[in-house]
Amino acid sequence: MHHKVTIEPFRIKVVEQIRLTTEEERNDFLKAAYYNPFLLNSDQVIIDLLTDSGTSAMSAEQWAGIMRGDESYAGARSWRRMEAEIQDLTGCPYILPTHQGRAAEHLLYNHLGGPGKVFISNTHFDTTRANIEFSKATAIDCPIEESRHPGLLHPFKGNLDTQKLVERIEHYGPENIGAVILTVTNNSGGGQPVSMQNARDLAAICRKYGILFLLDACRIAENAYFIHRREEGYAHKSYRAIAQEMFALADGAIMSAKKDGLVNMGGFLALRDLDLALKCRTVLIITEGYATYGGLSGRDMEAIAIGLREIFEPDYLHYRIKSTAYLGDKLHDMGVPIIRPVGGHAIYVDAKAFYPHIPPEQFPGQALVCELYLKSGIRSCEIGSVMFGKYDEDGKLIPAPMELVRLAIPRRVYTQSHMDYVAETFAELLRERRQASGYRITEEPPFLRHFTARFERLPAREEATRPA
Ligand code: F0G
Repeated sequence: MHHKVTIEPFRIKVVEQIRLTTEEERNDFLKAAYYNPFLLNSDQVIIDLLTDSGTSAMSAEQWAGIMRGDESYAGARSWRRMEAEIQDLTGCPYILPTHQGRAAEHLLYNHLGGPGKVFISNTHFDTTRANIEFSKATAIDCPIEESRHPGLLHPFKGNLDTQKLVERIEHYGPENIGAVILTVTNNSGGGQPVSMQNARDLAAICRKYGILFLLDACRIAENAYFIHRREEGYAHKSYRAIAQEMFALADGAIMSAKKDGLVNMGGFLALRDLDLALKCRTVLIITEGYATYGGLSGRDMEAIAIGLREIFEPDYLHYRIKSTAYLGDKLHDMGVPIIRPVGGHAIYVDAKAFYPHIPPEQFPGQALVCELYLKSGIRSCEIGSVMFGKYDEDGKLIPAPMELVRLAIPRRVYTQSHMDYVAETFAELLRERRQASGYRITEEPPFLRHFTARFERLPAREEATRPA
């Protein structure tokens, strides 16, 4: 029989109680968190779509692996297992374990970066950009033009624009390019996939100019699913073989294992060049931990080795991508403006289109994040001018290219009825969209301000103009 419904291909063995709060309680919670959901306590949240990072449910096999974790300081069995798994997947001989992705970014970009250096990516994730800019280098995003149009359909909207890349390389000079970084899937660009052809073209350009070509590979299994489905010549290749082929094109990779590693903590840096690996390893040992654990417990490494296998299981990946599309299609059908086609790990709502009456200076994405929480206890994340906005010399906001709200879906955690609850909430928000008001930042740090900034709600336009 052909079933229409895609079921979760797992049974639930352990449950975690969710506290169902009232709207009145949430009003107080959000006020106390200065209208920044990053500052909420997790038990004030009903459905947490803040991130898909480190929020996966581990399998019984991974939990069993946790018990087998070898906690030896050097040369642990669990390290050897993780190392072998990553070598096999990436084809890279030198593997550096780190406690998460950004630690690997710090090791590498601190070394490759510095004043005058330029990094080019389809879109730098915020920690990637911050690590590059912290080294005083420049990070430039070069996504294909299609990616800037939320509703425009394109099978590989995560691709990097090869023509613009060549222009930038010629402009800055190849010797000043720190690296080309291909983020798969392109998280900040809507979780959109990158084609193998694009990776192949980039590898060729980088080889021609003698530039390092790196993958930011934290969602490479989800990306492989899209290649399998959408790119000619890959329908008969396994997801893992597709990922291996993409890794083989690059000089190295950074991976936060908190996404497609299916673990709560961990990451790694994989390199082909011994000299570069040794330079990074020195800093690894000084800042993270010895070379065979790098800030991870033996049990973490065991769970990563197992997670990196499970992620490529066809039933899992099919369910994963289908369940993200389930929510995305529902929202689209009811008229919520979202980035289409739906990506792998999240739905990205176009807050500029959702709240056209709130200008970028008043952060429409933040407004939607707050309304979602107040209405239903759903926590989401602004990816717009709060996260990426800059100021000009006069202190005026230079808005981000898009005002998005990300509904990131943790792996193997929520069921279809949780997603129905999210969709129901949006139906209500659509009805009340004209009443939403904008926000103003009252306090912010110099880097990664979205994590800790404080906000104040502005009076609603209707309130402000309503006759007395
Ligand atoms: N690269 C990408 C594409 C990411 O999405 C992330 C993290 C990182 C690097 C950094 O990895 O968190 O392990 O240090 N993304 C999370 C998110 C935080 O919510 O998208 P990390």
